[in-house]
Amino acid sequence: MTLMIKKIYRPKDLAQFLNVTPRTIINYEKEGKIEKAQRDKNNWRYYTYEQMKRILIQFEKWEEEAAIKETRVITIANLKGGTAKTTTAVNLAAGLAMIGNKALLIDFDPQGNATECLGFDPLSFEKTIKDIIDDYVTLFPEVIIDTDIDNLSLVPANLNFAIAEVILPSRHGADLVLRQRIKPLLGVYDFIVIDCSPHLGKLTVNAIVAATEIIIPVEMSYLSVRGIQLMMNTITSISAALELRLRKISILPTKFDIRNAKDNQMLELLRNTYKDSVMETIIHQNVSLSDSQSEGKVIYHSVPNSKGAKDYSKLVEEVMKNDKR
Ligand SMILES: Nc1ncnc2c1ncn2[C@@H]1O[C@H](COP(=O)(O)OP(=O)(O)OP(=O)(O)O)[C@@H](O)[C@H]1O
Ligand SMILES: [Mg+2]
Repeated sequence: MTLMIKKIYRPKDLAQFLNVTPRTIINYEKEGKIEKAQRDKNNWRYYTYEQMKRILIQFEKWEEEAAIKETRVITIANLKGGTAKTTTAVNLAAGLAMIGNKALLIDFDPQGNATECLGFDPLSFEKTIKDIIDDYVTLFPEVIIDTDIDNLSLVPANLNFAIAEVILPSRHGADLVLRQRIKPLLGVYDFIVIDCSPHLGKLTVNAIVAATEIIIPVEMSYLSVRGIQLMMNTITSISAALELRLRKISILPTKFDIRNAKDNQMLELLRNTYKDSVMETIIHQNVSLSDSQSEGKVIYHSVPNSKGAKDYSKLVEEVMKNDKR
């Protein structure tokens, strides 16, 4: 068994490793056989990674190489349309893969734009993300496809997925479906990047609930900047109702026109209001980005020396640096 890097572990996690019941773990603690657990604000026991490691070493259950990193699940969302969500999801996932991370891009939008941006015809797929959401027994491997980029896989989407928005709300635990379904993939990929549609329906809620991080791409218009608060409030209320997995919400300025005074003012307003939540990286307006999409290529292959390629490389670097695991 491998110990995934997580913030906290519960007695039941430790029990699994030691092949005993959670009750036995509590008894071990009472008998002084293992160190005392920490207590969270509800007074529930938990262990840190370092504690888990010490206890596993004590019971000779520790395998150094076996410890693997937890997958970072980055959801790209904004309730407003056309803010460069797909452009960001595709080029972030591809960039992460190109520097050696194992990455999976999940197209979670019935428009299938992310699928198209990687050079595929969305309608050519028989199995898509829809089957994963629909059917508990469908195994991810049947739906995950390789792309032209090493280390980058894709779960495609097409218009058939639109029905999920209608069917999901009537299901029990409708907000948790994606999070449940990706469980077997955690630890397999370094990154899962999810591209959302611009609607606050069940699909977007699912993608927020599944995320460990959210990036909100924002254009520099007054309405967009105002829309961020709605997005932030939505995320906060969703994560308050469900167990929090979210470690970071970041705002990414996109389609930035440096010569435009209004864009500069909006960026300043954004930084003053949201401080550290605004990413250092700015994605400038760059026609190569839209051209690359119509070619079905990522920007690093389409126009490697473009401003767009440089900006998205910076984003990849910043995401790597912001490792909060
Ligand atoms: N930095 C940029 N410079 C110029 N054009 C851009 C830039 N980023 C994205 N675009 C273009 O803007 C349009 C919208 O981008 P994109 O599809 O990524 O947005 P989206 O938020 O995913 O949209 P939707 O809400 O429909 O899913 C596309 O035509 C894309 O090529
Ligand atoms: Mg999109």
